[in-house]
Amino acid sequence: MDRLLLSLAVCAGLLCIAPAHAADAAVGKALAEEACMDCHGEDGKGDDTTPAIAGKSVEELTKAMKEYQDGTRTKDAKMAKAAKKLSEAETADLVQYYSTLQ
Ligand code: HEC
Repeated sequence: MDRLLLSLAVCAGLLCIAPAHAADAAVGKALAEEACMDCHGEDGKGDDTTPAIAGKSVEELTKAMKEYQDGTRTKDAKMAKAAKKLSEAETADLVQYYSTLQ
């Protein structure tokens, strides 16, 4: 019982100092397969109708995603819709993934 209490205390302590969310490219890839690749292509290089997003910086990608989410960018309704479905953590994971592609 003491051990259980101790591990709970350690765990709670770790959670307190851990960042809210560490962006994870592997999780981002899985999300991209579901939500982005139909339009942006498997490699994120886009096509005639969709811009390339692979290899852009974290800053650029985050800015674009936030603009779709807050309604600043409205040029493509489907893109805006896709962005608005994402949580902040999911957005960070996706940005991490696409920024690592070349
Ligand atoms: C229905 C097709 C579609 C889907 C699904 C889609 N996108 Fe897009 N995306 C577009 C189009 C079209 C544009 C260009 C629109 C514009 O100019 O604002 C775009 C633009 C973007 C941009 C901005 C690129 C730039 O250079 O300005 C980013 C970043 C982006 N998409 C990321 C994503 C991510 C991440 C997902 C998955 C959650 C996703 N998109 C899903 C069609 C789509």
